[in-house]
Amino acid sequence: MRRAVLGRFILVLLAALCINSVIFYVSASHLLMRTTAQSLIYTLSSIDNLLDYDQSDQELLRQTENLEDFTQRDESRLTLIRGDGTVAADSDAEAGEMDNHLQREEVRQALETGEGYTTRFSETLGQDMLYAACRSRHSDMILRLAVPYYGMQEFLPVLFPAVIVSFLAALGISVIFSRRFAYSVTKPLQDISKEMLKVRGDYGELHFDRYKYPEINVIADTTMKMSRNVKDYLNRIEKEKQIRQEFFSNASHELKTPITSIQGYAELLESGMIVDEEMKADFARRIKKEAENMTGLINDILMISRLEAKDAEVVFSQVRISVLLDDILDSLKPLAAQSQVFIHSDCQPISIEANPQQMKELLNNLITNAVKYNRPGGQVWIQIREKGDAMLIRVRDNGMGIPEDSLDRIFERFYRVDKGRSRKQGGTGLGLSIVKHIVSFYQGTIRVSSELDKGSEFVVELPLQRGHA
Ligand SMILES: Nc1ncnc2c1ncn2[C@@H]1O[C@H](COP(=O)(O)OP(=O)(O)O)[C@@H](O)[C@H]1O
Ligand SMILES: [Mg+2]
Repeated sequence: MRRAVLGRFILVLLAALCINSVIFYVSASHLLMRTTAQSLIYTLSSIDNLLDYDQSDQELLRQTENLEDFTQRDESRLTLIRGDGTVAADSDAEAGEMDNHLQREEVRQALETGEGYTTRFSETLGQDMLYAACRSRHSDMILRLAVPYYGMQEFLPVLFPAVIVSFLAALGISVIFSRRFAYSVTKPLQDISKEMLKVRGDYGELHFDRYKYPEINVIADTTMKMSRNVKDYLNRIEKEKQIRQEFFSNASHELKTPITSIQGYAELLESGMIVDEEMKADFARRIKKEAENMTGLINDILMISRLEAKDAEVVFSQVRISVLLDDILDSLKPLAAQSQVFIHSDCQPISIEANPQQMKELLNNLITNAVKYNRPGGQVWIQIREKGDAMLIRVRDNGMGIPEDSLDRIFERFYRVDKGRSRKQGGTGLGLSIVKHIVSFYQGTIRVSSELDKGSEFVVELPLQRGHA
């Protein structure tokens, strides 16, 4: 890159120098021509003062020839032109044989403005000439003086060495400066890439100095930010991997327990050691119960994995909560009766835009918990209300309550305050983590308050319309 910057810099410099030389050459040529012409015109006005116009053409010619010395140039040529363009006298040619000069550029300018000049190739003298003309102040004649003219070419031998020296000096100085400039630009970039190569693994450790150019600081900052993002991302992936691993080992452990029981009961039945019919029936019931537990666990695992698959399609509809609640309460009747728990429900006729299965899962888990972790004669109060754009669900019980140190853990997967009791009730420890997942899917909130031996209250708030969180 340094070489490319240097190369381009020199190219630009050469182009600038060339353009500069051309402009200088053209404007110097113009200036030179104008000053030469001015001095010719000055000579002409002196000649004008010296000439005696009242003489014949012959006499005028003689005067002109005499005056040629005045111009101090051998090759100069003096011409006197009448107002109609005919030549009255010429120091170098026969006046009578010359064309009408009215259309000559310098003559035309002199007639219009009093003086004029131009360069042109002279057929008569066979070389480039500078013609300067001015109107006489003593007659209607135009005086014209012509001298050979080579323009700037004359000065080239003098100018050339100076041009070369200044060219080389400019080149030398700019090579030094552009090398420094290229270095100051490429050095930080090299530093950045060196720094990046040094870091292996922990990209959060990347650190760059402040550089002179803000653009390079932007690159450094962006790289640091990106590396931090990559680090966060990798950490998140690592954490998710850990959570997943934990989940799988917990899940397989949870599945192993009922399988071991089932195997045990089945082996006992198979061995023929159990003869008592009553006992056989009890074993069969236990096997069935364990199988039910397994089904519950597998259903919960499936539910969690469906909730976690972010790209899985979720179908929404207007769910009438009171109807859903009635269904749930119907299905919970046997459990409530068995646990001797009384359920009060107070539900406004609300409909919410949601997935019916998820809503059912949410309510069912909260209410089942309130019934399960209760005591005989206990009560459960369910209240569902509309609050602004949201639906407010309160599930309160006066059951066993949750110890304070477990309050923020109950939403963890597989966490149970009393594992034995939960298992006996067919719990998996996944219910509240499913509830929490659903609530956050709808961008709602869940709160819990509880007092040991007094009861618990779960309050869920969900937006009624999607996108109204
Ligand atoms: N209403 C409640 N009263 C007392 N304890 C509760 C209540 N709800 C949940 N818990 C406690 O939180 C734990 C986790 O609940 P949950 O995730 O639903 O799992 P489980 O399958 O055990 O019901 C339960 O095991 C229980 O100890
Ligand atoms: Mg539960």
